[in-house]
Amino acid sequence: MSYQPIYVTEADRLEQENAIEQILNMDSRPKNFHIVTYGCQMNAHDSEKLTGMLLQMGMTEADDRRNADLVLFNTCCVRDNAERRALGNVTWLKELKKDKPELVIGVCGCMVQQPQMAQRILKQYRFIDLAFGTHNLHRLPTLLLNLLNRRTRIVSVTNEDTIIAEGLPIKRLNEHHAYITIMYGCDNYCSYCIVPYVRGHERSRRMTDILHEAEGLLKNGVQEIMLLGQNVNSYGNGSENGDTFPKLLRELDNMGIPRIRFMTSHPKDLSDELIEVMATGKHICNHLHLPVQCGNNEILRLMNRRYTREDYLRKVEKLRAAVPNIGLTTDLIVSFPGETEEQFEDTCSLVREVGYDAAFTFIYSPREGTQAARMPGRIPDDESSRRIEKLIREVEASTARVHESMIGKQEFVLIEGLSKRDPNKVSGKGTRNITVTLDGTAEDIGKIIPVTITSAAVNTLRGERKER
Ligand code: SAH
Ligand code: SF4
Ligand code: F3S
Repeated sequence: MSYQPIYVTEADRLEQENAIEQILNMDSRPKNFHIVTYGCQMNAHDSEKLTGMLLQMGMTEADDRRNADLVLFNTCCVRDNAERRALGNVTWLKELKKDKPELVIGVCGCMVQQPQMAQRILKQYRFIDLAFGTHNLHRLPTLLLNLLNRRTRIVSVTNEDTIIAEGLPIKRLNEHHAYITIMYGCDNYCSYCIVPYVRGHERSRRMTDILHEAEGLLKNGVQEIMLLGQNVNSYGNGSENGDTFPKLLRELDNMGIPRIRFMTSHPKDLSDELIEVMATGKHICNHLHLPVQCGNNEILRLMNRRYTREDYLRKVEKLRAAVPNIGLTTDLIVSFPGETEEQFEDTCSLVREVGYDAAFTFIYSPREGTQAARMPGRIPDDESSRRIEKLIREVEASTARVHESMIGKQEFVLIEGLSKRDPNKVSGKGTRNITVTLDGTAEDIGKIIPVTITSAAVNTLRGERKER
């Protein structure tokens, strides 16, 4: 299924421009802001857009929330602990507001988009001045203007779940490595997951808009782009002009951006055509994040993942045959409702069988409104802790094996910064997305440097610069 996106109208855009003008002329506007971001890369990129808009309104970025007149929390609700952390921190600000009554506290993002959350904020969190969901992020200027003009709280959550806002200003956190969202939302409805409910229907941006954004980044000297979406490999599903993810990747690869990455890919949509583009593309990194979630077929069925362990392993095999040296990473959930010891062991054996570079491991967290939250067979906390600890050890062993196998090999490392532990060293990511540390200076930042891997530590590799 796919939904035609509704693009933000010219009238809506003009209204925002007008609000920005008015805020710029206001003496009483907040002078600086601080954004706290939780959750995934998509949220991090949304914060780059929020920052872009606030800068347009003449505010400056404060490095600490204590020094800001406006603090905005861009929240996540994928697991209960993400939500609790966000609310805990917002409540902490309530104290700060006692000494600084003019402080504006805002919350936005996925947590706010949940049903009933707006009412909860209105009733229980009276010190929150501004709250908006994921679908009206582009209207931050008018929301803020209303708040400043009327001096009343603004809580605005809309259900425009197929909207796409093009042309928002983006203040990028990193000039060498840039995010580009290619699709929004998700229609997969994995039974444990809240994302489809808070990010809306799956819809893809126009290919021309994406290519235009990438061209601009290339002109500004970007070294790496990361294409973002909940399910990037279903990009263009049902599009009238036959746009597909492999086609988009091919176009971007031809453009000459040094490195291209993307996430997240759903195993069910990993097509032969995509494998072919990954194998033949010149700039596509040899890394794939391919969340498997678990290694047992019955649990995969209950999760509504729409592939089996065998399907997954077959795809991994094909990928490895076509793209030598590809690094695989994944997401894993333990203690899905009713998961037996044997079913959990299937996840452990899958980790050994695939040999992942790394994996994110999670304990299942029931999310209200999802199918799995109504399934029987809750696993006790102490049992969940045991399972996740065991799984983490399996993943660590897998990572160690991969790192060991990299010794003596060549890597190309995009230097991100000085090492925190040793100022004479720099670190960055190889094409396989593993962190590599080597001797260097601040001058190396943003450059891609060929290295030979000399040794392996727990989470990183060490390397030596290759003589040219
Ligand atoms: N669209 C991506 C990412 C979704 S959220 C994907 O399909 O992979 C990132 C990860 O959070 C998921 O892959 C899953 O492993 C985990 N996750 C999602 N909902 C969860 C829940 N209710 N409890 C525990 N982990 C969850
Ligand atoms: Fe959630 Fe599944 Fe969609 Fe990923 S694909 S966002 S896990 S529903
Ligand atoms: Fe969290 Fe929303 Fe991302 S729920 S994981 S911030 S899409």
